[in-house]
Amino acid sequence: MPESVVKTEGGKKRLVMDYRGSPYGADLAQYAQVMQDVIDKLREADVDEIVLSEYYERVYDAEQTLWLKEISEVVSEFEAEGVWSPRHLSKDQRSKTLSQRHDAVLSIFNTLRGDPFKAYLMIISEMKAQMQRMQALPPEEQEDLKLYLATLEYMRDKLENTKLLRKMKEYLQQLGSIPTDRGIYHSFFEAAIKPSFIGSQIFFTETEKLELVDQYEVLGTKVYIYRHPDKVESFYFINPPEYSLPPEKYFLLEKTKEVVAAHRPENVEFFDITQARRYFKKVYVATIGDLAAQNNIALSQEEREELAEIVARYTIGYGILEIILSDRRITDVYIDSPLGMKPIYLVHSKYGQCQTNILFSSEEARSIVSRFRALSGRPFDEAHPILDFDLPDLQTRVAVIGKPLALDGTAFAFRLHKDTPWTLAQFVDVKMMDSYTAGMLSFFVDAQASQLIVGSRGSGKTSLLQAMMLELPQNLRIILQEDTQEIPVPQMKKIGYNIQRLKTRPPLGAVVEGEVSAEDALRTALRLGDSVLIVGEVRSKEAIALYEAMRIGAVGNTVMGTIHGESAYSIWDRVVNDLGVPSTSFKATDFAVVSAPIRFKGSLERKRRLIEITEVKKEWNEDPLAENGFLTWSSFDAGKDALEFNQSKLGESDWLAKLKKLRGITVDEVFSEIRARGLAKQRLVDLKNKLGLPELLEAENSVTAHAKYLLLREMQLQENGGVDHELLLKNWGSWVDDSLVRELQRRRG
Ligand SMILES: Nc1ncnc2c1ncn2[C@@H]1O[C@H](COP(=O)(O)OP(=O)(O)O)[C@@H](O)[C@H]1O
Ligand SMILES: [Mg+2]
Repeated sequence: MPESVVKTEGGKKRLVMDYRGSPYGADLAQYAQVMQDVIDKLREADVDEIVLSEYYERVYDAEQTLWLKEISEVVSEFEAEGVWSPRHLSKDQRSKTLSQRHDAVLSIFNTLRGDPFKAYLMIISEMKAQMQRMQALPPEEQEDLKLYLATLEYMRDKLENTKLLRKMKEYLQQLGSIPTDRGIYHSFFEAAIKPSFIGSQIFFTETEKLELVDQYEVLGTKVYIYRHPDKVESFYFINPPEYSLPPEKYFLLEKTKEVVAAHRPENVEFFDITQARRYFKKVYVATIGDLAAQNNIALSQEEREELAEIVARYTIGYGILEIILSDRRITDVYIDSPLGMKPIYLVHSKYGQCQTNILFSSEEARSIVSRFRALSGRPFDEAHPILDFDLPDLQTRVAVIGKPLALDGTAFAFRLHKDTPWTLAQFVDVKMMDSYTAGMLSFFVDAQASQLIVGSRGSGKTSLLQAMMLELPQNLRIILQEDTQEIPVPQMKKIGYNIQRLKTRPPLGAVVEGEVSAEDALRTALRLGDSVLIVGEVRSKEAIALYEAMRIGAVGNTVMGTIHGESAYSIWDRVVNDLGVPSTSFKATDFAVVSAPIRFKGSLERKRRLIEITEVKKEWNEDPLAENGFLTWSSFDAGKDALEFNQSKLGESDWLAKLKKLRGITVDEVFSEIRARGLAKQRLVDLKNKLGLPELLEAENSVTAHAKYLLLREMQLQENGGVDHELLLKNWGSWVDDSLVRELQRRRG
């Protein structure tokens, strides 16, 4: 009998039986002996699931376990009843018949433990044979035979009352024949397989009911997106190669892990991750090669590399999470506590909320948390139950919460940063705003308005901030203050922006040496002089310094940031009443740009929309709402799904008056410029859709296009002292067609 233990995971009791070194594989469908071991064990252990482990594990689910448990109960009853004892077989206690009957029943009983179906067939055929003899027997022997038949009947009924036998009979009726081998068990005991060194389980249940809507590959792993006819959420199933390898490869993986465990790279620092990984992978390839040779397993170089990649994933990498965090179509991943109960779920940029086929185990959670702790240099324990930091190699924000904050134990949330910044043109394309509004925002940025982007979490504030940053001329110096690294600075630098990032301490979580507070960082930023100031998220006290600086004009050019709220008024309230900024300092904000997830007509799907653009006027003292301090330029009409522009009111605009005074630009010129910028963006969107060229709207190209627009405009200004927007758009349009689009098409080949 193999060693076994009962483990509790995610509220489920699991019987784990260890088949390493056993002559049988860990498969109860295949081997009668294994089924017998399990059924015998189930007579004493009350469990919800069965796990048979070798170099991989087979996990039998609650239903399968229940089937076997019923069989084990029948076994116990037969034993308690003593079905083979003479009193159940014959009145004549010395006859040859008795010993024949005794042998038959005992043989059925023994078969039952490893092959209940065969035992059932044996009962049936024994009954048939005995009935046929009946007629020929003298009356007293007939009576004696009835006693035996009653025993067989009792055994048959007991078995027929189990779910497993009922199911099998149904199945066979459909099949129309009786199998002679254990094939039938394979139909009933198909189990989820996982390598034993991986904690998490994946499952493929009920896929027949699902409709496959998409499939693609991430890191060599197949991803399947399914829909269920009656469910709102979609299904995101992965099938990583490590879950379906032949046994000898599991053996090699396990051995390799044992060998390399000694130099497990627990403390590799961020900067070294990629390099370290390359190094360790080489070590693994060599180790796997040696082990394969020692054990006479033939492996190609490619197979060695594939296995080494798997070992790397589960030693130096992030395990199964690495696969989903590498799928950049995902925006968020959530793992709730208690672990192992519910599958991981995620938000897909195209398919919305999805349930996955991954059950994340507490074992894997423990190991990933210790990796996170080492990588972040931050504590995570009962005194510090929040761990909040960036994984730069996966461009992901990690949030882990633990006890006592999370009552049911550790839970995870991951936010995947988009690896290229959003652009206004992309927002027009996904209908977050119309092109006229995009032109307006572009103009605000250019005219150095200070703007706060307002919205709830996930409404797209940070994304919009990135897009607005891309409207800045590339020659400006940008100072970016963020506590969490969400703005894709490396990509923006590559495009040609001059960005200085000041990383600040998150307001929650533990203090780490070397991190400065947002407030101190801002003071430093202001001393850096004339530059654009971007505040990733205005959260707390730094708002006072920020507003003070804006008010006295210490910040040279544009100031932009995001803030949590739902309207211009709500952020005034927050900034003044919660964060302690003097009410009139709030006037340093020129515009509040508000975004929100909208559910159209009560649809379950949320679409992100800009819902308000409001100017903060300058002539009020206490309460902008009471004193007519807000001027709404645009407001959202959900019925039309449109942001309506209220041009007629703009005579009251202080900002337009200021522009006229400082720059000599008239209101008509402003709107002509806004309109032209909007038309330019619209043209890119239309071309992208017509030609199927999504890259046209990507940051790199839309920035090039915008720079070209500014250049052509500047040339007109120099030559004519004014701008003819029609001509400008015509010239710019030809350049887009003849140069930009051609180039992109050429690159595609
Ligand atoms: N208009 C949009 N359409 C689709 N996805 C969007 C849109 N705007 C933002 N997103 C995505 O939504 C997620 C949350 O956006 P983010 O800008 O971080 O929100 P916030 O800063 O308001 O919390 C990101 O993954 C982002 O890529
Ligand atoms: Mg944000």
